Amino acid sequence: MAVDTKTDQGTVVTMEKIVELCKRRGFIFQSSEIYGGIGSTWDYGPLGAELKRNVKEAWWQDNVRVREDMVGLDAAILMNPRVWEASGHIESFTDPLVDCKMCKQRFRADQIVADVCPACGGELTEARQFNLMFKTFMGPVEEEAAVVYLRPETAQGIFVNFKNVQMSTRKKLPFGIAQIGKSFRNEITPGNFIFRTREFEQMEIEYFVMPGTDEEHHARWIEERYNWYLKYGINPDRLRLRAHDPDELAHYAKATTDIEYLFPIGWSELEGIANRTDFDLRQHMEYSGENMAYFDEESGKSVVPYVIEPSGGVDRSLLAFMVDAYDEEIIEKGDKKEKRTVLRFHKALAPVKVAVLPLLRNRPEIVDTARKLASQLRPVMSTMYDDTASIGRLYRRQDEIGTLWCVTVDVQTVEEDNQVTIRDRDTMEQIRVPIEEVKPLLLERLSA
Ligand code: GLY
Repeated sequence: MAVDTKTDQGTVVTMEKIVELCKRRGFIFQSSEIYGGIGSTWDYGPLGAELKRNVKEAWWQDNVRVREDMVGLDAAILMNPRVWEASGHIESFTDPLVDCKMCKQRFRADQIVADVCPACGGELTEARQFNLMFKTFMGPVEEEAAVVYLRPETAQGIFVNFKNVQMSTRKKLPFGIAQIGKSFRNEITPGNFIFRTREFEQMEIEYFVMPGTDEEHHARWIEERYNWYLKYGINPDRLRLRAHDPDELAHYAKATTDIEYLFPIGWSELEGIANRTDFDLRQHMEYSGENMAYFDEESGKSVVPYVIEPSGGVDRSLLAFMVDAYDEEIIEKGDKKEKRTVLRFHKALAPVKVAVLPLLRNRPEIVDTARKLASQLRPVMSTMYDDTASIGRLYRRQDEIGTLWCVTVDVQTVEEDNQVTIRDRDTMEQIRVPIEEVKPLLLERLSA
């Protein structure tokens, strides 16, 4: 069901508008587009790459660097296939699938409302379980013994390294291990732009706690993760928590609460916070024969920690930040009215912080001054220089990509006062400041 999400001004934000803007301005392109694309696979363009880095950086900063109880990890995508036997993914990471006997299309059985094909009305097969893991072969021989999987979650890289990390960092419970990385799922029905893709990026935390304290840590993480989205500007009216019903819990979870966002496609999951109990560590102990228990000095006992897992999608978060930032407003220009599209990104997420714009591109002193200022700003913040249109159009372009400030060099700068104009994205107010004060002023605003 399509839901109209509205901006504060009442504009409807549709997925079509977001997809179109993403392509036109270089946030996101269809993968292999010149060959007709490939199912639900997308490439991040210059601005998308910056935005994605900023989302991940904000997450890593808040969840790893500033916390004494967290450390990071970067594990390999390919793992020993025994990992997936132990984790239960080979047996249980499946979706029920039906085939249409007429048109041969495949559907998820749990998404079919009638018992005939939604595409052609044909008869459907019985449902069978379809494993979502991508398979490939390691080495030159394509045989069963060489099968490996592309990881369907980054989490297992953390579980199998639990002892390595704990011993090398001497962390005591409770503590967590965080990881950002690609995962792969051969979804039967991907779609909705970057919301559900077969290749995607996760931001996961496995937080290890003493058994018996798991529920309180679960509740705390749900609150912390909810607040994280608010911190980066998500409108609280479009964010909610939803606890899983028992029949939708993953095979490893005792309880899960999703943080959902009101996307143009309706309320959908941004992040799941699961109580995975001691399931994974115990499974790995059994399958590997290694002792994964933690020795608790206080009680003098060995325990297998319980695990709370906040698991978020990078691509989904980015899409939510994009939808939430999207705004259209009517502004008055003399006696004319004009539509302004603006992405009101949080300052930490905005892919471009400042644009330096020469008012006249045929005046070498103006262009030289603007280029010089841009090159001074580049090492300290993401900076763009643009002289390819009139100033009105340059401002509109920058608004549309969410640039925080536009700095304009004009005739007065080079002929009279060595001052420039700084225009604020949200208020459109302009102030004039000496050129040498631009860098310290913007740095101060960024860190405020
Ligand atoms: N690790 C949980 C998930 O990938 O859904």
